[in-house]
Amino acid sequence: MDAPANARPGNAAYSEVHAASLADPEAFWLAAAQALDWASPPTRAFDASAGACGRWFPDGRLNACHNAVDRHVAAGRGTQAAIRYDSPVTGTRRTITYADLLDEVATLAGLLAACGVGPGDRVVIYMPMVPEALFGMLACARLGAVHSVVFGGFAANELAIRITDATPKVVLAASCGIEPNRVVAYKPLLDAAIAASSHTPHACLILQRPQAEATLVPGRDRDWAEAVATARAAGLRAACTPVAATDPLYILYTSGTTGKPKGVVRDTGGYCTALAWTMPNLYDVAPGETYFCASDIGWVVGHSYIVYGPLLHGCTTILYEGKPVSTPDAGALWRVVSEYGAACLFTAPTALRAIKKDDPRAERVRDHDLSRFRSLFLAGERADPDSVAWAERALDRPVIDHWWQTETGWAIAGNPLGVGLLPVKHGSACVPMPGYDLAVLDEAGRPVPEGTMGTIALKLPLPPGCLPTLWGAEDRFRTSYLTTYPGWYDTSDAGVVDADGYVTVLGRTDDIINVAGHRLSTGGMEAVLAAHPDVAECAVIGIRDALKGEQPCGFVVLKSGVDRDPGVIETELVALVRERIGPVAAFKLALTVARLPKTRSGKILRGTMKRIADGEPWTLPPTIDDAGTLDEIDASLRERGLVSDGQTP
Ligand code: COA
Ligand code: AMP
Repeated sequence: MDAPANARPGNAAYSEVHAASLADPEAFWLAAAQALDWASPPTRAFDASAGACGRWFPDGRLNACHNAVDRHVAAGRGTQAAIRYDSPVTGTRRTITYADLLDEVATLAGLLAACGVGPGDRVVIYMPMVPEALFGMLACARLGAVHSVVFGGFAANELAIRITDATPKVVLAASCGIEPNRVVAYKPLLDAAIAASSHTPHACLILQRPQAEATLVPGRDRDWAEAVATARAAGLRAACTPVAATDPLYILYTSGTTGKPKGVVRDTGGYCTALAWTMPNLYDVAPGETYFCASDIGWVVGHSYIVYGPLLHGCTTILYEGKPVSTPDAGALWRVVSEYGAACLFTAPTALRAIKKDDPRAERVRDHDLSRFRSLFLAGERADPDSVAWAERALDRPVIDHWWQTETGWAIAGNPLGVGLLPVKHGSACVPMPGYDLAVLDEAGRPVPEGTMGTIALKLPLPPGCLPTLWGAEDRFRTSYLTTYPGWYDTSDAGVVDADGYVTVLGRTDDIINVAGHRLSTGGMEAVLAAHPDVAECAVIGIRDALKGEQPCGFVVLKSGVDRDPGVIETELVALVRERIGPVAAFKLALTVARLPKTRSGKILRGTMKRIADGEPWTLPPTIDDAGTLDEIDASLRERGLVSDGQTP
């Protein structure tokens, strides 16, 4: 492999580890792979000739479920809690030991096998934060089947797109999810999605929850509890099926720049190896300790650090079905950390901002015994320095920002607490993790000087755990990530690297926005607005929001001759985005305007519109067609009190 593009000094231990990972990736990752049990241990780490950008552990065979469950029981952890389920929204708590987990997963896998699920088959999981969702993921892994979890805040249409693309044999779902302000009936959404999809699954296993029991479709739907009880009574259990390390463990759909989500494929061996490396080295957590990731299993962070990372490492993981505030108050996360003795908490900056807003003096922190708690990790969006400083003061522990993408599956940059804490710089996601050879490039693909902003790119090959392709879309994989800068992976994140090698991520270079730590495509929202019969054209931008980081704001131009009340149309548009994409889009602002600002060649000036809304200095683009249009956007935002004061987040 080529010499590292970006070897840098720093903390000696970190520098040594990072340099070793780039200088001899074979040795580095083969050593890391020894943290796992292999059915056939890999004899080499990387095959550069396979796929679009190589594959990890080409001749290794293993099973992720064996590594996350069975081997811990065999090693004497059977009585240790594997999962602590804590659900303030239902008033339920449940502890599942590793022995219980093995029983649940082996039985469910037996049931899935009896439904015809085998290695390589897909299973869509549309479930809230309940233990059965984890049993489902691990049961798929046990069979070598490929799970695809869909976040509960997506609407039927988004679920339909994923079912059509993944063509699952079976869907695992719950009758409902529970939000603090309402019960979300999942089953009608699932039925609508299957009706709208070109693919029909053979069977659906439905977990009935008392808050909203679902009507089952005869011949297709089975009651989860009954089916599992029958399987258990019949002694139906499945053993772990070893798969190639390069076989997919899961597909996770994420927003792309068009309306169609990207099916990020995660391989088995590379992913498990990378996560196993991070548990002691990045998070500084030991087997037997408790790890609390307050994300959702519908997101990559949930896959990696509610499910696979902690379980692969023999930790206890916390499954928290609640919010950082309002269930019941801003002390909720501290209560959970304290009650289960979590060593590490991982959450999104939005959650921290929500807590800070409700409890600015951090009084709720003092209500709880946090003696076993050592560190707070943040990711999912930019961590604003104010909130990081607030949390440091409140907790008197390291607060560590780290930078992620669904595509990478684990942190690209972070502060490796287990290797040795580096000085924290507020606003920066710290330094590249092993295997990430990172540079900031200009538009021509040339590295920019230190401290200069550009696109952050990762020199190929990507480390283990990162996506090898997109599901059924190898060409899209190449064009989305690999062709802009040949030899590099384009992160589509803009940022800077300073003289110490610290990375600061400033925002996306594409039309993706980040709302409350959720990644959303403005292009997807524009497609929904444009489908409204009264809309001639539209533009959606993410405008600064003190709590959620950004919130989507749609500008629409109505077709000539439309004489309906614009206020009514705006309300319809808000409802349409909620219906087509889902509540997670948090789309609450639709503004009718007379025209959109454009260049002479017809390109909508979204960047300038955003700067106006965010209260940032802006200049008149020389190519603008009509300068007055920007004043009209400014006036329309001001009329609704939507121009920010220019302060971060
Ligand atoms: N199922 C159904 N609906 C959901 C949902 C789910 N799993 N998750 C969120 N929603 C709904 C919410 O109820 C809300 O609906 P509403 O418009 O009727 O109020 C909508 O989607 C928007 O949700 P959100 O943006 O999360 O706002 P919120 O006001 O409900 O909560 C926070 C605000 C800060 C508490 C919340 O955003 C949060 O915890 N964020 C952290 C996110 C995170 O951990 N991300 C993972 C990346 S690491
Ligand atoms: P997702 O794929 O949902 O994990 O979202 C990935 C995107 O979130 C990245 O491309 C970034 O734009 C943003 N992001 C994630 N973590 C951070 C971070 N620590 N700092 C800044 N942006 C982040």
